[in-house]
Amino acid sequence: MTSFNVAIDGPAGAGKSTVAKKVAEKLGFLYIDTGAMYRALTQAALATNVDLHDEKALNNLLMESELELSPSSTGTTVFWNGEDITEEIRSNKVNQNVSLVSSYKQVRLNMMEKQQKLASEKHAVLDGRDIGTHVLPKANVKIFLTASVEERAKRRHTEQVNKGLQSDLEDIKRDIEKRDELDSSRAFAPLKKADDARVLDTTKMDINQVTDAILDFVKEHSV
Ligand code: DC
Repeated sequence: MTSFNVAIDGPAGAGKSTVAKKVAEKLGFLYIDTGAMYRALTQAALATNVDLHDEKALNNLLMESELELSPSSTGTTVFWNGEDITEEIRSNKVNQNVSLVSSYKQVRLNMMEKQQKLASEKHAVLDGRDIGTHVLPKANVKIFLTASVEERAKRRHTEQVNKGLQSDLEDIKRDIEKRDELDSSRAFAPLKKADDARVLDTTKMDINQVTDAILDFVKEHSV
């Protein structure tokens, strides 16, 4: 079977994961949250005191460990060596360090291999930064989701508040801007729109409108 793949890339907080999850659900496809994979490695390194500036040590940690993404009603449950770390990977500490961890070439190549394997086994929607450019350059549908930084920060803030978590809008905005800058400027597989990706500016769109627009693109590309 040749799998049908939808690639959704874009900056932090553009709504990729919420939308990718919905699109996958509507299509009956697997949802693969590639950001969660980099977050899991970051969390595991922090928890075991691996130096985040030591590329080799990080890569060894990744290769020696078992990383599993399991679909759940709320999105994805993330297991590291069998331990559920779904909550931990969303912490501020992980937010602040994940761009560094995901900047290393060898780490990215190994993650990429895992992502390509998953995507080849099932019809899937993948969200990330480099899916359309590097992981799946031949994806059937490529979307680049974006929104103004103010709107993205507002969405993250509301999400945190709704979860009952402490949140500061200005801190979130700074964090998002910093991550965008790091993710876009790294040497290997930076955040970048693929030449053949459709751009969707979601600043003034709600989740259902974005989901429907993507489903329309998918329809255009299916035979
Ligand atoms: O989508 P997210 O915020 O969960 O992603 C967390 C970080 O992981 C992001 O700042 C950059 C990195 N990432 C990446 O480099 N490549 C991907 N395909 C997905 C995420």
